[in-house]
Amino acid sequence: MSEHLSDQAIATGKQAAAEAAMNYVQDGQLIGLGTGSTVKYFLEALAKRIQDGMHIQGIPTSDATRRLAEQLRIPLLPDEGEWVLDVAIDGADQVDPRFNLIKGGGGALLREKIVAKAAKQFIVIVDKAKCVPALGMPMPLPIEVIPFGWPNTARYLQREGWHGSLRTQNGTTFKTDSGNYIFDVHIDCITNPRETGNLLSQIPGVVEHGLFTGLTSLVLVGSPNGVQVVQGACQPD
Ligand code: 5RP
Repeated sequence: MSEHLSDQAIATGKQAAAEAAMNYVQDGQLIGLGTGSTVKYFLEALAKRIQDGMHIQGIPTSDATRRLAEQLRIPLLPDEGEWVLDVAIDGADQVDPRFNLIKGGGGALLREKIVAKAAKQFIVIVDKAKCVPALGMPMPLPIEVIPFGWPNTARYLQREGWHGSLRTQNGTTFKTDSGNYIFDVHIDCITNPRETGNLLSQIPGVVEHGLFTGLTSLVLVGSPNGVQVVQGACQPD
């Protein structure tokens, strides 16, 4: 699990997992399109299949994915529709053995969770380095908070022992596609992700958190040696 992988091996793993996800996409489907560098490989593979005649429609989980999908001429559904998706394909920052995830490294966790929940199947594509025995540090847990009164929200989090920092980008406060902030919390080991998620959701000002529990149907783990398909029902904590 702690095996060191080179950047090249990681990129190869991401691409292998993303391309393997095409085996789970069928003609005529409505597909949730995740966010991040692994998903970029998936969009490229999907665009090739569309050029070859496949018909699908996608719903992007971020403005960045929307822009890339438009460039690649992937047909998209309107953001404000009510969609029942056949499958959603997304990356993750960490995956534990029970298919719990940390997501939100790219700040798209809110739309990503809405789309994962709306999908009949949620398929996670990761490189091997993302598989961990337990969620937590060195990956901080992203928490999306509304800007209104955010220092109060941070204080409530700190009172519960969740210390962290407001995410910045290029010297300014990072803003999500929904206009919110991300508070990255440092937790050594998240022993019960569902319980932690439920507690976080009760804090006023928290819009969403990056713990994804009970959503994942399948994980495709890519490495330079190929792709491992990790299957099974999601186990509640
Ligand atoms: C964005 C996410 C991404 O899926 C996650 O950060 C993984 O990104 P990458 O594929 O670039 O490693 O949750 O909010």
